[in-house]
Amino acid sequence: MTDPKILQQAFSARFGGEGSAYTAPGRINLIGEHTDYNGGFVFPGAIDRGISAVIRPNGTHMVNLYAIDLDMACSFNIDDPQGPKVMHFRYVYGVVREMMAAGVEVQGFDAVYGGDVPLGAGMSSSAAVECCFAYALNELFGQGRLDKMTLARIGQATEHKYIGVMCGIMDQFASMHGKAGFLMRLDCHSGEYHYFPWHPDGYRLVVINSCVKHELVGSPYNDRRNSCQRVADLAGVETLRDCSHEKLEQLRSQLSAEDYRRARYVIGEVDRVLAVSDALERGDYEEVGRQMYLTHKGLKEDYEVSCDEIDFLVDQARIMGVSGARIMGGGFGGCTVNLLRNDLYEPFLAQVQKTYRARFGIDCKPIPVVIADGTRRL
Ligand code: GLA
Repeated sequence: MTDPKILQQAFSARFGGEGSAYTAPGRINLIGEHTDYNGGFVFPGAIDRGISAVIRPNGTHMVNLYAIDLDMACSFNIDDPQGPKVMHFRYVYGVVREMMAAGVEVQGFDAVYGGDVPLGAGMSSSAAVECCFAYALNELFGQGRLDKMTLARIGQATEHKYIGVMCGIMDQFASMHGKAGFLMRLDCHSGEYHYFPWHPDGYRLVVINSCVKHELVGSPYNDRRNSCQRVADLAGVETLRDCSHEKLEQLRSQLSAEDYRRARYVIGEVDRVLAVSDALERGDYEEVGRQMYLTHKGLKEDYEVSCDEIDFLVDQARIMGVSGARIMGGGFGGCTVNLLRNDLYEPFLAQVQKTYRARFGIDCKPIPVVIADGTRRL
């Protein structure tokens, strides 16, 4: 998290005086990828990296933003139906407009914000921006009357309507509801969730940022979502959560090979989250890891959201005896999440950094995972 003192200093240099400080974390996801918009389960946890903001109402209808990491400023009127063009500021604009639509009497404000979630790395930096502002505006202008799930949905609606990514609810949910030392299993169909203590005796999690992003023009993420919906429609169910492997096989001849593979991955992944929940209750981390590798295989071969750099990182993990590794988040680059025995931690990271550099000529960045609290006022 960016030191709130630094944000306060930047705030007073720019706007004078002080504002209130808020923070919202990024997230990891143990397992359950691309299941959220399919009504399945996800298993995320908030991390100790996030986006923080210092905010103060200014008594006008203007929002004045300064993004400290990018050294970029932007102003917009809350009544402007278009909003800023620069993507980075549209996250805040979208939250403002959605909060207003939800009945919160948002007024103008000044804000400085920044953070340490790597951008576009599959750790939900954009959800952290949305959650940070949604939470703050709810307190500053809405007497805190919207609950956390509603605020998470405001972040999701921002992605849908102002950014054009038809994401699920996992990232915003995790950023809002995170609790230090606990992962969460969310049923994305019912909205029910449980906290699972995360004290993997003898093991730890590490994320490795491949530092590449291959998202193509257009939206491969939305294409995946559309494939899933087509199959669900044909199966006569609301989401793939309610489609069995048997049903999918019956429909196979009516589906494109691609839609079939997409659905096969999702249906398998819904089951894998439940297998991981059981394994966690037994303390069987080797089984958790095995399921992670299976997820990666599905994401690579059937869902086709991996890439050479990420596959290399996962292969290296397997060669080194890491218990589980897979691509994490939306895909097309970004990070792997690795579950490994403590004694492997140092040797694995040394080896993977060396081989990755030799193979691709760039550095990958290991990020030790600390499961931390969700969105809050500082
Ligand atoms: C992105 C989306 C999430 C989820 C993941 C894949 O992070 O924002 O809603 O679909 O991809 O699991």
